Amino acid sequence: MSKRIPWEADILEVLINEEQIRAKTAEIAHQISQDYEGKEVILVGVMVGAVVFLADLMRAMEIPVSVDFVAISSYGKDTRSSGVVRILKDLDMNIESKHVIIVEDIVDTGLTLKYLVDNLSARSPATLRVCALLDKPSRRKVPVTIHYVGFTVPDKFVVGYGLDFDQRYRNLPFVGVLRPEIYAG
Ligand code: IMP
Repeated sequence: MSKRIPWEADILEVLINEEQIRAKTAEIAHQISQDYEGKEVILVGVMVGAVVFLADLMRAMEIPVSVDFVAISSYGKDTRSSGVVRILKDLDMNIESKHVIIVEDIVDTGLTLKYLVDNLSARSPATLRVCALLDKPSRRKVPVTIHYVGFTVPDKFVVGYGLDFDQRYRNLPFVGVLRPEIYAG
């Protein structure tokens, strides 16, 4: 494990290592490429957390893709969902009659995803699916369908590979559990 990032001292345990992420990303990319063979897909990344996953996923895909982003209000320093969801940055592209896949870092309560699916559905895409690197089903408040899932994680606050706490740790190459004393202040 690389020691180049001193923040690793804040990590209690590595849940998913680089190699596991790489293999799973390739697997999902291949599955999507098969499912959408002969079609063109718009990947909608949910900023900022999904950026790292999206960057690797799109490069492993074997069909034409374009990419757009939405930004949703986040929890800030709070590790629990406020339940308040709003769009801070909307799509630049028109998704009407297009094949759209929402790319998320993690689905926790499901509130963000539910809002996004409802919002994007109203724009009449040809198809709309969801791809999430991580799923934390134990915390779900609203039911959501995730068509492509990387890993199911326990009810612990995780960081790395795009996921942050207070905007930090996104550049860790693995997904790890943050030491509780860090977010307990
Ligand atoms: P949801 O609306 O509760 O499903 O939350 C989704 C968003 O919350 C994700 O896109 C993340 O930005 C953030 N989030 C949820 N759980 C975690 C976590 O364990 N670590 C870091 N961010 C998280």
